Amino acid sequence: MSEKVRVMLTEKEVDQRIQEVADIINRDYEGKCIHMICVLKGGVFFMCELAKRITVPVTLDFMSVSSYGDDTKSSGVVKIVKDLDQPLLGRDVLVVEDIIDSGRTLSYLMQILKSRSPKSLCLCTLLDKPDRRVTDVHVDYTCFEIPDEFVVGFGLDYAQKYRNLPYIGVMEFTED
Ligand code: IMP
Ligand code: MG
Repeated sequence: MSEKVRVMLTEKEVDQRIQEVADIINRDYEGKCIHMICVLKGGVFFMCELAKRITVPVTLDFMSVSSYGDDTKSSGVVKIVKDLDQPLLGRDVLVVEDIIDSGRTLSYLMQILKSRSPKSLCLCTLLDKPDRRVTDVHVDYTCFEIPDEFVVGFGLDYAQKYRNLPYIGVMEFTED
């Protein structure tokens, strides 16, 4: 079996769209400081590109979660592998994610973060697969809605590979 990556969104398309979303966020957060939370590892490329385009003050923190369940289905119960370094109390928090699929992980994570009393809590995602949604999640900023295909690049992996691709591609498998 060999694997190939077909381009879905070029580097230029992704960069342009991130700039558009950053412009909206800059307007919405005028006069505020954004406390950005990156969900490792997938969110890290998107967070860097987004944060570079934010013109209001920004602080950053990182967390790493793993979801209980088998390889193909997240259970929605999240184990915090690496917690945030700083408290959220009174802050304008923006969670930055790579992709929202079933929504199970994110809806659980947002509940945990909400219980820490931020002043506001919003969610920004690079990709959304709305057709796959099982658990309702309110998404404030979406760069791209995509069909139900397995994608890699811009932080997203297949077996930990391809995160470094500067574009979004679809995994394709062929029998040798
Ligand atoms: P869910 O929303 O709880 O189902 O889990 C979403 C997580 O599954 C994401 O944060 C990704 O780590 C992973 N995921 C979902 N769809 C894809 C994909 O197309 N490519 C790579 N990872 C994906
Ligand atoms: Mg993720």
